[in-house]
Amino acid sequence: MLLFSSKKELIAHLATLKNPSTVVGLVPTMGALHKGHLSLIKKAISETKVVVVSIFVNPTQFDNQDDLKKYPDTLSADLESLKNISAELIVFNPSVTELYSNNVSSKEYDFDGLDATMEGEFRSNHFLGVATVVEKLFSIVKPNKAYFGEKDFQQLLIIKKLIEKTNIPIEIIGCPIVREPHGLAMSSRNERLPKDLRLKASFIYETLLAAKEIFGTKSAAHVMNWVKNKFAKKPEFILEYIKIADQDTLNPVKRKQKNKKYRAFIVVYVNGVRLIDNIALN
Ligand code: PAJ
Repeated sequence: MLLFSSKKELIAHLATLKNPSTVVGLVPTMGALHKGHLSLIKKAISETKVVVVSIFVNPTQFDNQDDLKKYPDTLSADLESLKNISAELIVFNPSVTELYSNNVSSKEYDFDGLDATMEGEFRSNHFLGVATVVEKLFSIVKPNKAYFGEKDFQQLLIIKKLIEKTNIPIEIIGCPIVREPHGLAMSSRNERLPKDLRLKASFIYETLLAAKEIFGTKSAAHVMNWVKNKFAKKPEFILEYIKIADQDTLNPVKRKQKNKKYRAFIVVYVNGVRLIDNIALN
């Protein structure tokens, strides 16, 4: 396994591997790797010849400096798990200066409103920071395929929009959410929960599953209210939002239409830890 912190050296190395038929895959991460991340990497390995995994905690996507400071740094454990998957992986772990030089700021983008709701609404400029760093990684690695998790479904849509708007020839592959055995979506933040709360937090997924069931016969407004009531009875959970939206546009559902796909999106605080999840409803 090769580890690069210099973009110049990574580019030079990739140039020695690439020929027109070499398919390159990129898996961008912020480290603290768990089975969710590893599923993306395994998929990339199964579909591409050269796989680059980036590990970079991107400062421009954090609106909360405390959250950034608390972000776990587990580089040596991460490298160990990557080595166990494949000795062929290429890991890119740049410093902030290496990626941003002296200008640690986000670019402006127009995502046709995809960033106006949910994570975009509650975490200001979050997606501008995500798109800025992902565009930088794309221009360094120049992958044919890039892998993103449905766990951050809105992020996945925004990256697809970035590709559409910039005409960068990269195929974006969405990968299913990997869950803990009791249902909680895997996340680096789960480590910050005491074991009992981690188990209790499976309530989030259980509620999403029940919401899916109810959505079969009831309106989106009814289902969202039902979820709000469920959480109101659980003092250890603070519901930030529950939204049901068209999964292509993220527009709210006025009246259900047969040919449209809908998804429920949720954010809940448990013990001060922000947990995000979503589920396809039809
Ligand atoms: P990070 O939170 O480290 O996640 C990296 C990738 O792993 C994302 O595409 C995310 O959706 C995916 N992922 C995380 N948990 C998952 C799970 N339980 N199941 C499936 N996929 C999961 O998302 C980011 O980093 C950053 O915003 C990044 C794209 C790297 C830009 O900085």
